[in-house]
Amino acid sequence: MPPPLAEEPVVGVVGAGLMGRGIAAVLARQAAEVRLFDTDAVVLADAVDHLSSQGLPVRAARSLTEVVQGAAFVTEAIAENLALKQSVFAELDAADPHVVLATNTSVLPVTRIAEHTKNPGRVVGTHWWNPPDLVPVVEVVRGTHTDDTVMADTVARLTALGKLPVRVEKDVPGFVGNRLQHALWREAIALVADGICDARTVDLVVRNTIGLRLAEMGPLQNADYVGLDLTLAIHDAVLPALNRDPGPSALLKDLVTAGRLGAKSRRGFFDWDPGERETVAARLAAHVRTQLPPPTWDNTGPAHERESA
Ligand SMILES: NC(=O)c1ccc[n+]([C@@H]2O[C@H](COP(=O)([O-])OP(=O)(O)OC[C@H]3O[C@@H](n4cnc5c(N)ncnc54)[C@H](O)[C@@H]3O)[C@@H](O)[C@H]2O)c1
Repeated sequence: MPPPLAEEPVVGVVGAGLMGRGIAAVLARQAAEVRLFDTDAVVLADAVDHLSSQGLPVRAARSLTEVVQGAAFVTEAIAENLALKQSVFAELDAADPHVVLATNTSVLPVTRIAEHTKNPGRVVGTHWWNPPDLVPVVEVVRGTHTDDTVMADTVARLTALGKLPVRVEKDVPGFVGNRLQHALWREAIALVADGICDARTVDLVVRNTIGLRLAEMGPLQNADYVGLDLTLAIHDAVLPALNRDPGPSALLKDLVTAGRLGAKSRRGFFDWDPGERETVAARLAAHVRTQLPPPTWDNTGPAHERESA
């Protein structure tokens, strides 16, 4: 674990749900105190109990002002709703003009979230992945107005926490990881919708082919590895046939309309037994743990891991 940062005594987290409490647990590694705030008093008390029981220095804040004043850094992890996030950022901004304000939005534009702040230069995206204590990457997203120093400080802070921050230099929907993930999901759903195979086959193929190697070899290193001439030939033949719908699939919309929401309603692409979601979550966390840490994170390793100009 990295040494504590003496200059970062207090940090704040707004939203104590799934992501907020997980992020708070990681931030607590380097903080004298994490102030946590949630509009739902029951959720807040539960999160504070949960984190305190692990010996983490966390305190329930009574207001956004209490979260931000005197803090070095505040991370927002409330519901994925632009108007809500805008109002939280406006209030945080009014309460303290200097603190770096980070949003954990999955897909909303960082620039829009900062729209009602007087100082959007100190608003930055930090897109953590679930579970935040396990998944190494945090995408550090530059809004249109984010200051260079805020980008650099955020990368340094996350590195000191033992995370793997990556810089996303443009505020595009889905940043990097979710663009890649949902390009795959769009095609996965299209394969089922077009009757090419069933959902079980899609998941079996992914888990037993590309899924087996992606943690070790990313798509671009793989393209180099097999040869860019072969990659070009494959793209010539396959890309014209891939799904290019500009919006969500009709099959996905139909499932949602029918109340088939997946594990939470016990029917989605698959049927879910009671308790199965928890079993699957535990298996996934155990699997992720077995894969950490990967051999090299960055672009400074062996020649085959350095990027060509
Ligand atoms: N769940 C994931 O896998 C995941 C991954 C990456 C990013 N995110 C993003 O993180 C954010 C939080 O997601 P989550 O899954 O933790 O949601 P969640 O529903 O578990 O928690 C959100 C919490 O925010 C609280 N809240 C709502 N409005 C608030 C306000 N105005 N002030 C303070 N608290 C408020 C709610 O009471 C709730 O406890 C979202 O933006 C989401 O898109 C989620």
